[in-house]
Amino acid sequence: MVSGLLTAAGPDPASAEFELAEGTYEVLVDETSPAYLGGLADVVAAAGRVLPLLADAYRTGAGVPYAAYGPDGVSAQSALNRPSFVNAMVSGWLPQLPDVLTRLRDEADPARVADLACGTGWAGIELAKAFPHITVDGLDNDEASIARGRQYAADHGVADRVDLEVTDLADESAGWSPRYDWCSSSSACTTSRGRSRYCGTLAPHCGRAVRCWSWTSGQPRASPRPVN
Ligand SMILES: C[S@@+](CC[C@H](N)C(=O)[O-])C[C@H]1O[C@@H](n2cnc3c(N)ncnc32)[C@H](O)[C@@H]1O
Repeated sequence: MVSGLLTAAGPDPASAEFELAEGTYEVLVDETSPAYLGGLADVVAAAGRVLPLLADAYRTGAGVPYAAYGPDGVSAQSALNRPSFVNAMVSGWLPQLPDVLTRLRDEADPARVADLACGTGWAGIELAKAFPHITVDGLDNDEASIARGRQYAADHGVADRVDLEVTDLADESAGWSPRYDWCSSSSACTTSRGRSRYCGTLAPHCGRAVRCWSWTSGQPRASPRPVN
């Protein structure tokens, strides 16, 4: 047994055959397993990168820009949330919003969805796979996240229906219009500073139909009513 993660068959490490210990595959290798925690290693690297910025952030109250967490921050965010989108969003969260589910299932009038602050786009990608007629716009102001998300959408064969664009959702001069049938925002409104201001900025642009995904007591939950 090596650190509890590997079992070795044979006394000589040079010739032994190694196997992952039971349960390790799901936690460290299978990127879509609900138990996957591989992204935590990237959290450590990303947190280390911003440590020098923290003193000023506390002093001025300006916070640490998302981009300052670097590529490890993007990887961590993407990897830690993806399993929930793959395993829980369509089967567990959406049934809590029957009106949204009905709209997404409507093949005669395909829904146009916005994933606000989409990160690397996994939520939109999973939605597009589950509802093959809908289109999703993933909007986020982090260029690195959008670039990765575009690649993921292509890899999963949904790039024709999942359009990811670098967009500052707080830019009130951007000429928004309520053109979406549903706006979803996962793990963004609830974690941003000034939750109500952020959601309040988004809501008017989306026909006041913003729903924030959040996690309560370890259970994923969607806001039962639009957030404003
Ligand atoms: C906690 S991450 C969540 C990402 C993704 N929704 C997920 O669940 O993995 C928050 C995201 O909000 C984005 N964000 C923050 N402020 C934003 C703004 N003003 N406009 C667009 N995106 C913003 C960040 O770039 C980041 O990708």
